Amino acid sequence: PGTYPFTGEHQAGIVTPAQDRLYLAAFDVTTKDREDLVALLQRWTTIAARLTQGQGAGPFGPASGPYDAPPDDTGEALDLPPAGLTITFGFGRSLFVTADGTDRFGLADRLPDALVELPHFPADNLDPARSDGDLVVQACADDPQVAVHAIRNLSRAAFGAATIRWTQLGYGRTSSTSTAQRTPRNLFGFKDGTANLKVEERSAVDEHVWVPAAAAQADSHDSAWLTGGTYLVARRIRMTIETWDRTSLREQEALVGRTKGEGAPLSGGTEFTEPDFAVTGRDDQPLVALNSHVRLAHPTQNDGVRMLRRGYNFTDGNDALGRLDAGLFFLAFVTDPRTHYIPMQNRLSRDDGLMEYLQHTGSGLFAVPPGVPDGSLVLGSDGT
Ligand code: HEM
Repeated sequence: PGTYPFTGEHQAGIVTPAQDRLYLAAFDVTTKDREDLVALLQRWTTIAARLTQGQGAGPFGPASGPYDAPPDDTGEALDLPPAGLTITFGFGRSLFVTADGTDRFGLADRLPDALVELPHFPADNLDPARSDGDLVVQACADDPQVAVHAIRNLSRAAFGAATIRWTQLGYGRTSSTSTAQRTPRNLFGFKDGTANLKVEERSAVDEHVWVPAAAAQADSHDSAWLTGGTYLVARRIRMTIETWDRTSLREQEALVGRTKGEGAPLSGGTEFTEPDFAVTGRDDQPLVALNSHVRLAHPTQNDGVRMLRRGYNFTDGNDALGRLDAGLFFLAFVTDPRTHYIPMQNRLSRDDGLMEYLQHTGSGLFAVPPGVPDGSLVLGSDGT
């Protein structure tokens, strides 16, 4: 569909069938005033509700209103349909408490225990200028101009309260989040999203994505505001695709654990056949290799953990050696990063054969509040 509701139990842009394009921005809050922060979130909520419904950022739109004032919308989406635009907001740990323990906005007592500082994973090569942030806004749409327009107008509305810290443009989805969607491909050329958590799996989504009320009861702070929300893990993962492109098909398939054409597990079957890790080949080695990505990321190797992956391909120009600065901007929504991301990433960073071709260059973890209820438009109101 071309339009998704902005209001609801959960924010849109999570189980929404993954759109084709992404523009994501992390912000640093510059104001020291709690009232300004609340006002910013209120402005953002109002604008996001309008933009996702195909309206301009303000009531006049880009081409009317007071002639001697700048228009209340920038205009580049004027003739475009909403293109399935969703806008999803999240809060970084630094909004609640800084690294040196400062409580900037009187929010320290609302910091959820699970909004941790992510540990250093083996082989991480993170650029601080592409990492973290107090606030995050994920805009997804089937038209890149619509997604960029959304971030541009929200950033404009943040003037004096928050500035952009880093952004990421994604041009091709690397996941499907509904069984109705065709599985797309990542820049290694493999189908990505086959075994992803899908919106149709209601109880699995409840278990692995949304924060349950019980989490607040177990929390050392007051985190009830996050019930029905989720956590967003963002990792900018650069691929050394020039090296990958000189690797044999045999090696590529072995590292992933699936065939390149069909996306079937190397243990046999078709795309949606479950991998069988016990099947061995003539040399008595398992057909789905011990260091293959699919084996190491599979729920059976991870205490049953699943995640809702919603990443995008990126290509940000090239480096001084003429290599593309390209890869996968990994986005995943999980109920608790301590159980649903950190252990898996540790295992992958240590043992995954794909890591030879990967470098994590950016990182963020954000608490994503639940949806805005019908009628009252105040995003994260309980958290502020
Ligand atoms: C599955 C590629 C990073 C978690 C897959 C599949 C591919 C793939 C081709 C098989 C198809 C599918 O089921 O979607 C990649 C690439 C990555 C990457 C190229 C980096 C550039 C990650 C990271 C994580 C992760 C960082 C989590 C920490 C998973 C999971 C599955 C999966 C959970 C499904 C496993 C299953 O249930 O069979 N990935 N992945 N991946 N990946 Fe990744």
